[in-house]
Amino acid sequence: MTRHFLRDDDLTPEEQTRVLDLADEMKRDRFAYRPLAGPRTVALLFDKPSTRTRLSFSVGVADLGGSPLVLDSGSTQMGRGEPLEDTARVLERQVAAVAWRTFSQADVENLARHIGVPVINALTDEFHPCQILADLQTVREVKGFLAGLTLAYLGDGANNMSHSYLLGCATAGMHVRIGAPDGFHPDEVVLTRAREIAEGTGGSVTVTTDAREAAEGADVVATDTWVSMGQEDEKEDREAPFRPYIVDEALMAAARPEAVVLHCLPAYRGKEITAGVIDGPQSVVWDEAENRRHVQKALLTHLLESSDDPESEPET
Ligand code: CP
Ligand code: NVA
Repeated sequence: MTRHFLRDDDLTPEEQTRVLDLADEMKRDRFAYRPLAGPRTVALLFDKPSTRTRLSFSVGVADLGGSPLVLDSGSTQMGRGEPLEDTARVLERQVAAVAWRTFSQADVENLARHIGVPVINALTDEFHPCQILADLQTVREVKGFLAGLTLAYLGDGANNMSHSYLLGCATAGMHVRIGAPDGFHPDEVVLTRAREIAEGTGGSVTVTTDAREAAEGADVVATDTWVSMGQEDEKEDREAPFRPYIVDEALMAAARPEAVVLHCLPAYRGKEITAGVIDGPQSVVWDEAENRRHVQKALLTHLLESSDDPESEPET
């Protein structure tokens, strides 16, 4: 069996903890694990811009003894309509794993169905699961544990970060509160799945249009851009509905005094978050960005270990 990481709930609660533990270990001892020694190559495919994901995967793969191959999918034959199934057959004979940033979740799922090496979702319109692993590692570093903590996410409840917080934090046994305007609430199917996971882990899921109610007593306050990649044409229309959800000093006063602030970045100061908050003492966003490397190294190691590795099987 080949293991993939396409959504946050592709890891069980136990596996999520194992990946976070391994990420902490890798952060302490950067070159201790070399599962890609050879070097074996990991393909990093991008259909959308990226700073952190590109950097953290490239450096992380090299840390693991491997060789990163960053490709803009548009410059490959994928961009000219070569069937995904054919690309999958070509890729699996060359690389140990693939991370793909693209628009449609269905496309990463389709690639995973046709390929014999792990596929990692490096962000789709629907989910950003690698980011949530980094966020969980960051919160755990500060708080020492995750289960039982309350995370409030303010802003676009229908975007990839909101959906991934719902699934990933529910898996960690956290209480997730989404504060978002009408018309920008999470997908019902994702909400139902998050509630189902939370029932098993002791977490919970709430959605409200009241920003203050969402933030009240929260241990973690998170936000994201109001205009995700691919939504640039809606930029002006997205301003007014989201303005009441800005993470500013007044909103932070509703959270616990020791609450930490997350933002996956890039951040737009004065839009979804004030400069005072993101650059202030409660912000852990730079640790969060660094932790992308550590968790993705741990994730790659876990997926490779728990997959049948075609390179270690006898030739038939
Ligand atoms: N947070 C994040 O995924 O950043 P990039 O878009 O820069 O990769
Ligand atoms: N929701 C944002 C996340 C960026 C890392 C986007 O999809 O553009």
